[in-house]
Amino acid sequence: MVGIGILGYGTIGSGVFEVINTNKESIAKRAGEPIEVKRICDLRDFPGDPAEKLITHDFKDIVNDPEISIVVETMGGTKPAYDFVKSALLAGKSVATSNKELVAKYGPELIEIAKEHNENFLFEASVGGGIPIIRPLNQAITADEILEIKGILNGTTNYILTKMARQGSDYHASLKEAQELGYAERNPEADVEGYDTCRKIAILTSLAYGMQVDYEDIYTEGITKISVEDMAYAKALDASIKLLGESRRADNGVVYARVAPALVSAHSPLFSVNDVFNAIFVKGNVLDDVMFYGRGAGKLPTASAVVSDVIDEVKHKGVHIMIQWSASKLTLGDIKDAKGEYFVRVPADKKDAAIAAFPNLSEVKSDKVKNEFAFITDTMTEGEYADRAKDLGVLNMIRSNL
Ligand code: HSE
Repeated sequence: MVGIGILGYGTIGSGVFEVINTNKESIAKRAGEPIEVKRICDLRDFPGDPAEKLITHDFKDIVNDPEISIVVETMGGTKPAYDFVKSALLAGKSVATSNKELVAKYGPELIEIAKEHNENFLFEASVGGGIPIIRPLNQAITADEILEIKGILNGTTNYILTKMARQGSDYHASLKEAQELGYAERNPEADVEGYDTCRKIAILTSLAYGMQVDYEDIYTEGITKISVEDMAYAKALDASIKLLGESRRADNGVVYARVAPALVSAHSPLFSVNDVFNAIFVKGNVLDDVMFYGRGAGKLPTASAVVSDVIDEVKHKGVHIMIQWSASKLTLGDIKDAKGEYFVRVPADKKDAAIAAFPNLSEVKSDKVKNEFAFITDTMTEGEYADRAKDLGVLNMIRSNL
C-alpha cells in the first residue's frame, strides 16, 4: 500500500482524489500495489465531502507522515507551493504536480533535489491538461533533435476564439460566455494575455533542449486585440485564428520562442482543434511530425495526468527517472530576427503607402469589412516588418501560418 498526501483540494486536487478512488483496482494493477490518499492539506474545511476526514490545515501532517511516500501538489502558484514541494522532496518523498508556474520557474532545481534523493519530481499535468506530452518528450521522442514545437496550449482562449469564429461574436461577448460556463476565470488575464501559454511553451522548450528557458524571455501576445474583422478575413482565407505557443530551432542553431495569435490554414491539423481542446505539434529531425490532441484543461482529464505520474512514481520507488533539464539558461534568439509572414490591416487611405512599403504583398478581401485594406506580406523578419509598417496606422497584425 502506497500512501499519498494531496496539497490543495481545489478542482484538480479533488479530481485526483476522485480518480484514485474511481479506478482503484486498475490503478493498483498498473502500479503493482494499492494506492491510498492518506491526508489532504487545504486551508478550508469540506463538510459533507467524501474526503472530509482526511483534511488537515497543517502541511507538516503530510511531510512528517512516514506512511506518505508520494505528495501530489495541486495548489497552483509558487507561494507556498515551492517551499512545500521542496520540503517534501528533502524529506525523501516523490512529488507529482499540475503546477505550471512552479515547474516553469523551479523545474531544474526540484528535479535535481529529487535526483539526489533517488526520488521523482514529475509534472505531466503542467502542460496540456490530460494530454500526454511531457512523458513522450522525455521518454519517447528521445532519438530526435527537436526542430519545432507548436501548440494550442490554452483551453480558455481556444474556446473564446472558437466562439468568435463560429458565432461572429466579439471578444468581450465570447469571454463573458466562457466565464458563465466556468471555462474562464473571473480575472481572465493569465489566459487571455497569453501568460499561461507562455509558461507551458517555456516548459516544453526547456525539455526539448535540456536547458532552462525563462518564460520572461518569451515574446508574448494574447488574444484581446482579435476583432470581428480579423475573424471575417480569416474566414475569407479559409483559415482560423489560434493562440499558438511556438518554439523553433533555426538552421543556425538559434532557438526562437513566441506566444501570439496566428492564422492557421484549413490544411493544418491545428485548424480543427476547437473549444477547450488543446493540441501540440512536434517536429523531430528523424521522426518528422507528430501531434498530441485532447482535453487541455478540466478536473478529471488533468487529474488523470497527475495520477499517471503517481503510478510512475510507485513503479520507480528509489529510482530516479532521468529528466534532462539543466539550470543552465538557454538564451533565446531575438524575436526581431525571427522570420515569418504577417497578415496586416490598415485604413483604406493607407493602401498606396502599404503597397509601397510591402511591394510583394497579397491583398485579402472580405465582403464583411469596409474602409480597410488588408494584406499578407512575403517572408521577412519581425524587425523588418515593424520598420516597414511603422507609418501605416496598422489596425491589427496577426502572424500568418498559411
Ligand atoms: N486555464 C488553463 C487553460 C487551464 O485554459 O488551458 C489549464 O492549464
